[in-house]
Parts: sequence; C-alpha cells; structure tokens
Amino acid sequence: MSHKSIAVDGPSGAGKSTLAKLLAQKLGYLYVDTGAIYRTVGLRAYRAGVDPKDTAGVTALLDGLHIEMKYAPDGLQHMYLDGEDVTDAIREHVISGYASGVSAIPAVRAFLLDRQRELAREHDVIMDGRDIGTVVLPQADVKIFLTASPEDRARRRFEELVQRGQQTDYDTVLHDVIQRDEQDINRAAAPLRQAEDALLVDTTGNALEESLALLLEIIKERL
Ligand code: C5P
Repeated sequence: MSHKSIAVDGPSGAGKSTLAKLLAQKLGYLYVDTGAIYRTVGLRAYRAGVDPKDTAGVTALLDGLHIEMKYAPDGLQHMYLDGEDVTDAIREHVISGYASGVSAIPAVRAFLLDRQRELAREHDVIMDGRDIGTVVLPQADVKIFLTASPEDRARRRFEELVQRGQQTDYDTVLHDVIQRDEQDINRAAAPLRQAEDALLVDTTGNALEESLALLLEIIKERL
C-alpha cells in the first residue's frame, strides 16, 4: 500500500514543528522532524570539537555514527546519539548553528536522505524541514512552504528558548535566525527554497489556532 506524505518546509521559527506535530495528531500521521536529525549530527560535531564547516572533519565523523529515532508513546520523536537520548541536548541554542553548518555538507545530506525516504515509504508522514518538497519527497501529496517575518520567527524562537530555561536575549536570537536563513538559502547542497508546486503560507501575526485551521483546510482539500 502506498502511503501519503505531506512536506512542510520553510525557514527556522516559522512554526513548522509545532504545526506539523498538531497536524500529524489530527490526521493520524507520523510526524518527522528532520531538523532534529541534522541537529544530532551537529551535536556530534560540537562534542567532538569539530568545526561544523570543516567538510573533511565532519565527513570523517559520519563513519560509525550511530543515530536512532524512536517514538515515545505520546508520539514525541526522541533522538539517540550512540545510544544516548539527546532529545533535549540538540535544542541548545549553540547546536542550531552547528546543525546549519553540517547540513551544508553534501556527505551529511546523502547520509540522511535514505532514512528520511524510508520513513515515508513505511508510514503516512508529515515531514518538516528545508528540502522535503524539493529533494527528499518531490512526489509528496501536499507541499507547504511556511514562512513569517524574521521578527516574528525570532520572537517564537526566543520564547521557546526561555521556556526551556536557556539564557539568551531577543536581539541575539534575531541575529542568529537571519544568519541561519542566509546559510540555509545560499548553500549549494539542497538549499532552502519553495518547491514550484508548494503552497506558500505566511503565518506572520497569526495565532497558532488560525494557522492550524488554515493548514488543515489546505491539506484536506488536496489529499
Ligand atoms: O528545523 P531546525 O531549526 O531544527 O533545523 C536545524 C538546521 O538543520 C537548519 O538550520 C538547517 O540548516 C538544517 N536542516 C536542513 N534540512 C532539513 C532540516 C533541517 O538542512 N530538512
């Protein structure tokens, strides 16, 4: 039986993961946060003291790298690095930059591509990332490109980090969001861009419920 897939791409802080998680619950789909997988590779580089832009250094880490993804009973996606649950560790602010750095390396993307496709072969998925509609699942049944103003996205990220008890300030987060967008858009390997057949949804100023209702409507029309 072939499975349904929904691709949700867009820049950081657009609300992709929060919305995709809720949509997955409503639709009974598996939610796959692909950023978490890149973050796990980023964490590995961070812990090994390898510069995330050092292509040879990061590529060498892939040899023997053991990354697992498991779903808790509540549907939460847990990431394991060499058997250790790193679900919280990968959310540290410093790891965002590492994830963005390692994700520009073609060997890293190639290493993770099949795993992502395999999940879509085995389940109905809603997958969020940067290149799901363009590279990972070009045949996805529904493609959404979710965005919002940099200020809105930085505010959301800032609130998320504060909730997690991390010390930071809004201006730093805004600066990092803009820098990460630039890196993700300008890299040669699978850059962040809207697929031609993706629907652009701008959530600037929207309450979560508004965006959720809008996306549900869009998806139901297209599935
Ligand atoms: O989505 P999240 O902010 O957790 O992703 C962390 C980083 O991983 C992004 O800045 C991006 O560089 C990278 N990423 C990617 N392709 C994906 C998902 C994430 O390059 N499909």
